[in-house]
Amino acid sequence: MTTKTAWITGATAGFGAATVERFVAGGWQVIASGRRADKLQQLVDRHGAGRVHATAFDMRDEAAMRAAHAALPVAFAGIDLLVNNAGLALGTAPAQQADLTQWKQMIDTNVTALVTMTHMLLPQLIERRAAIVNLSSISGSYAYRGGNVYGATKAFVTQFSQNLRTDLPGSLGQTLCGHPPDHRGRHCRHHLVDREPAAALEHQPHRGDAGQPVGGGIAGRTQPDLRPAPARRSCHNAAEWDERVPAH
Ligand SMILES: NC(=O)c1ccc[n+]([C@@H]2O[C@H](COP(=O)([O-])OP(=O)(O)OC[C@H]3O[C@@H](n4cnc5c(N)ncnc54)[C@H](OP(=O)(O)O)[C@@H]3O)[C@@H](O)[C@H]2O)c1
Repeated sequence: MTTKTAWITGATAGFGAATVERFVAGGWQVIASGRRADKLQQLVDRHGAGRVHATAFDMRDEAAMRAAHAALPVAFAGIDLLVNNAGLALGTAPAQQADLTQWKQMIDTNVTALVTMTHMLLPQLIERRAAIVNLSSISGSYAYRGGNVYGATKAFVTQFSQNLRTDLPGSLGQTLCGHPPDHRGRHCRHHLVDREPAAALEHQPHRGDAGQPVGGGIAGRTQPDLRPAPARRSCHNAAEWDERVPAH
């Protein structure tokens, strides 16, 4: 069987680092990116250069991103899965006290870099019938005090993911990892950490706007929920979320 390759951004910590471990354990090759070269090197030391290719760059630097792509070793050049995980939440101050530099950094990383990465890889992802996993957040669906720009960036990621699916029916499956309200966070862990990596590329029919299958494709197990979105409400802490959002 041909070894599959995943490009996991933000692989130096958190979900990204955990995702690297799961995919390597599942027999995949991983392109691991992030700014901290030492952390990436630890992944290579642990798993070997034949399994993990480390590429350190700042996602906000488009030229560096393109150079990293161009410099991929031949063995890692065919990408079967892009995990757009790199992202950050900076600050918890209310909008009127927030730091504009932090707002811009979140937009540049969570939005601009994510779409740049996606746009750069789309032609080859389509050609290989690959998949994309975008890391969104429940913060993109529910407001909380201090979540001002972070939540807005994640709302973008959620909508961008859904719009991509409508542009690319049958050719490019994406798992929207969006902590949808009715999953209360379980969605993300379920797909990226708890399940076998191969499941991210299971063949599933795509569903059109009417919820009908519209063709084959490679997609994550969970298709976007095509039911009308629940009305957006404001919650001020996790306990309120739990109280207001019914278990699914
Ligand atoms: N943690 C949560 O509860 C939660 C909930 C919902 C969604 N999410 C989303 O899940 C994703 C990962 O979150 P996490 O909690 O695992 O975060 P984390 O532990 O802080 O890790 C963030 C990763 O993103 C990378 N990164 C940040 N800015 C970057 C840049 N400019 N260029 C390249 N890489 C950059 C970091 O690498 P370097 O520092 O080495 O650059 C790091 O590997 C994010 O998109 C986040 O919004 C998290």
